[in-house]
Amino acid sequence: MLSAINHCRVLTAPVVTQQVRAMSTIRKNERNIGIKGIEVYFPRTYVAQSDLEAYDGVSAGKYTKGLEQQAMAFTSDREDITSMALTSFTNLMRNNDVDYKDVGFLSVGTETLVDKSKSTKSVLMQQFSESGNYDVQGVDSINACYGGTAAIMNAINYIETSDDYDGRDAVVVTGDIAVYEKGAARPSGGAGIVSLLIGPNAPLAYDRGVTGTHMEHVHDFYKPVLNSEYAVVDGHLSIDCYLRALAGAYNTYKQRYARVHGDNFSLDKADYSLFHCPFGKLVRTSYAWLAYLDYVERPADPRFSGVPDKFMGLGIGAEAYGNKELLLTFRDLVKSDYESKVVPSLLLNQQLGNSYTGSLYMSLASLLSQKSSAELQQKRINMFSYGSGMAATLFSLKVVGDTSKIAMNDRVHEKLAQRVQMSAQEFTDTLDLRERTHNLNDYTPVGDIGMLFPGSYYNEYIDSKYRRQYKQVPLQGTVDYAENEKILSQA
Ligand code: CAA
Repeated sequence: MLSAINHCRVLTAPVVTQQVRAMSTIRKNERNIGIKGIEVYFPRTYVAQSDLEAYDGVSAGKYTKGLEQQAMAFTSDREDITSMALTSFTNLMRNNDVDYKDVGFLSVGTETLVDKSKSTKSVLMQQFSESGNYDVQGVDSINACYGGTAAIMNAINYIETSDDYDGRDAVVVTGDIAVYEKGAARPSGGAGIVSLLIGPNAPLAYDRGVTGTHMEHVHDFYKPVLNSEYAVVDGHLSIDCYLRALAGAYNTYKQRYARVHGDNFSLDKADYSLFHCPFGKLVRTSYAWLAYLDYVERPADPRFSGVPDKFMGLGIGAEAYGNKELLLTFRDLVKSDYESKVVPSLLLNQQLGNSYTGSLYMSLASLLSQKSSAELQQKRINMFSYGSGMAATLFSLKVVGDTSKIAMNDRVHEKLAQRVQMSAQEFTDTLDLRERTHNLNDYTPVGDIGMLFPGSYYNEYIDSKYRRQYKQVPLQGTVDYAENEKILSQA
């Protein structure tokens, strides 16, 4: 589609500027820019957290109740971030009937790098070749679990403010394979990827002007060992950093909300609160922490009538977020809201584990798969994104249209039911395999292709120059040979 903005460019210079400005203003004021489509992909194999507890010899309940996780997705050497991005992106395009010509921006948010220079997005460009569309802005966004949110902000900016915007939609692909070395962090791994179609007139509109961000320099979780898939992680510090960043982002969000809406924001004004979810327990704590932050601001609010005076004056620093009794008190206080406003978003994260950059958007997909479009109308969904290092943002989506077509709805449940459970030993062996092989060249992966979902892309061979070649498991019923051929010929 040739937009009116492009027409403006043939006018004389001063008029161009005025016209373009005028168009930008119209674009800003009239369109609900946001999420129009969501596609979730996760590996087919998983391990039960209860099996891992027994295998690791920790006390029963440590992972299932202590971390509030049920299962963890993992994958063999057959899948890497590129194959998963190919699967998810291709499914999004197919299931939403999007023509490759109609994408003007594509960005991948991930921290599961297979290349320090070439972006994952560049590999996805293979899919556009038939359409002849090479005019696609965007590359990868990287900062721990925050890359997907950064990519979404860039996509929204592209549509909202870029004079190059010509009416075509944006796509963000965001997810990771989260693996930790043996030890305390390993059960908080996972895997999954989400693709999002972003454009104007979206049913999930980005609420402009209220977004709050908090960034600092910290070493809570980072990946300095470039030939390893594992992070160096200070687990307890990372939780403190997460809660501190949440407080900072919430504070700015509240100030901006008051400026835009002329009203004070408090937690009860969010119909749903969604979080980056490394494990369920941290989300429960985070919701309690937000209630406490409201209490600090307005202790006389009737919502806090039962709160003991001893929590008065603890502030919003380590003395407060390090205080277990305080967090437990506020967990109890918001228990019923937590069940209705947060729990519906936990389904995928509790089943898949942490998908790093994908995690927050797994929360969104979970919510949409559990609530009907009618139930969601005009609801405010608050989204907290945290990336170690650190980068954090709290933003809102407003439901302003039919969500039944954008979400995977029943397909989320169907896909979860089609998974294959593996033993804790098989999980451990698979992670050992990845550890030994993920840096090799001239290597043929050995993982069982039969364990992949139909339609999944997989790594067939890594040649002597480290170039990865991908193939696709045939789609059920409709074997997509043409698509296979296309990928193979360009690999
Ligand atoms: N039954 C019930 N509960 C039990 C239990 C049992 N048998 N055994 C222990 N627990 C509870 C503990 O009391 C504790 O509860 P609280 O959180 O309410 O205090 C909880 O289980 C965890 O126990 P520990 O603190 O002893 O666990 P740990 O120290 O062995 O490891 C961890 C936990 C630090 C989170 C570790 O898994 C880790 O390092 N994970 C990676 C880092 C991470 O995920 N950080 C999250 C914030 S950073 C971020 O969000 C970015 C990202 O994605 C990585």
